[in-house]
Amino acid sequence: MNFELKPFSLVEAANQKCDALLVLVPQEFKPGKDAFSALLGQLQKAGDLPLKAGRVLSLYQPAQAQAPRVVIAGVEGGSAKQWRQAVQAAFASVKSAQPKKLVLAVAGPAGEVGLRAVVSALAEASYVYTTTKSKPEGRVLQKVLLACSDAAALQTAFARACAIVQGVELAKEWANRPANHATPTLLAKAAQQLAEQPRFGCEVLGPKEVAKLGMGAFMAVAQGSEQPLQFIVLRYNGAARTKAPTVLVGKGITFDSGGISIKPAAEMDEMKFDMSGAASVLGTFQALAALRPAINVVGLIPACENLINGRAVKPGDVVTSMSGQTIEILNTDAEGRLVLCDALTYAERFKPQAVIDIATLTGACVIALGAVRSGLFAGNAELGQALSRAGELAQDLCWPMPLDDEYGEGLKTQFADIANVAGRAGGAISAAKFLQGFTGKLAWAHLDIAGTAWKSGAAKGATGRPVGLLVEYLMAQAAPERSAK
Ligand code: BES
Ligand code: MN
Ligand code: ZN
Repeated sequence: MNFELKPFSLVEAANQKCDALLVLVPQEFKPGKDAFSALLGQLQKAGDLPLKAGRVLSLYQPAQAQAPRVVIAGVEGGSAKQWRQAVQAAFASVKSAQPKKLVLAVAGPAGEVGLRAVVSALAEASYVYTTTKSKPEGRVLQKVLLACSDAAALQTAFARACAIVQGVELAKEWANRPANHATPTLLAKAAQQLAEQPRFGCEVLGPKEVAKLGMGAFMAVAQGSEQPLQFIVLRYNGAARTKAPTVLVGKGITFDSGGISIKPAAEMDEMKFDMSGAASVLGTFQALAALRPAINVVGLIPACENLINGRAVKPGDVVTSMSGQTIEILNTDAEGRLVLCDALTYAERFKPQAVIDIATLTGACVIALGAVRSGLFAGNAELGQALSRAGELAQDLCWPMPLDDEYGEGLKTQFADIANVAGRAGGAISAAKFLQGFTGKLAWAHLDIAGTAWKSGAAKGATGRPVGLLVEYLMAQAAPERSAK
């Protein structure tokens, strides 16, 4: 989909040829002198202007506009949520007409919050997954012209929002694919294809190389599957080699059956989304390709299936991780931390300035935070704050969670250096404590996206989160003065 941003007035926007014109009206709207504003003024006087976010007024072929369909929607107080609601409601009321070209005009300034919300909400509302349909009917919407009075001041934010949309959509594509269409090998191919861009590189390590590295925890998860594991190393080199990179580690379990500690059948299909962390790393790299910031980034993806066969790892088995620490695998369904711990050890070789892992790690995080905010576990306070800020800017929120050592007590065992599970209480935190045991002196943070990476029920599908948060964090590293308040 193609977005364009223009500093058009309402009347200029209304004179564009398109299939539908959506007009977003801020609460403080004051009509100008042109014909289209006059129409809005009339509605305002009559008390018919839909000022509540989510309310719309549809007009058909009004004389004041070129578009056959015109929808007016209020944005009320102008919070990100209200902008999104307005866009969703306005788009919903023209969707059945299958518009190819839309003009979305703000009756005044959009501001950065409004612009971001509009771009992401329109992309989301028009997104269609087609890869495994026999007769694909893809996205109809092709072109969106955005018009607002402050367009000139918003070009940087606009470029970023568009790059984030591209990244989010790549992440959604891979997360949405069923596990038989998104095997570890196919994920590795996708990474290699991404790396065909300038300044990119990609190396994929297979079972032999991973064994040589001694990644016993990662291998233990993969050994119950016929699909060979893949360890993907993506690189974006936007700065001098001497500049320390940021490392992103994405959990890439392409299907999580639970292993011998098998999951219940209900909704097990949703465990195809268990590589959403990996998908968010791919999506973030896609956005980097568009934005080309002067930073270095490494993406690490341990990818495998968590299945069951005669060779599958068993509860009670003890394995040796790449760090040398032995792990008692008490529950084979706590596999994410096993693949991540070896990737975190591998990350040390890059002498990174920061390491961020992204994982659909625990059901407990879904219970704690629901689908609204991702769980943020920061071993480094400064990194945690930067990630929180990035999430707010991108409207892709997270929430800080604790890492007191007491939360790790339950991971003690007589049979190895550490167990892979503690009790049920505080399960998202003990999982994070497990990971922390493999981060040494690294500046590390962990994002548990179990609740935010996909939606269940009728609207089942990947969200592409937290690509927005990650891209904003990285862009702030490239231009720290911009992020400072
Ligand atoms: N991928 C799951 C976490 C998950 C569950 C994400 C539900 C989204 C929705 C993870 O591998 C897992 O199974 N975790 C276990 C850990 C437990 C055995 C300590 C869990 O959360 O139940
Ligand atoms: Mn699991
Ligand atoms: Zn899992």
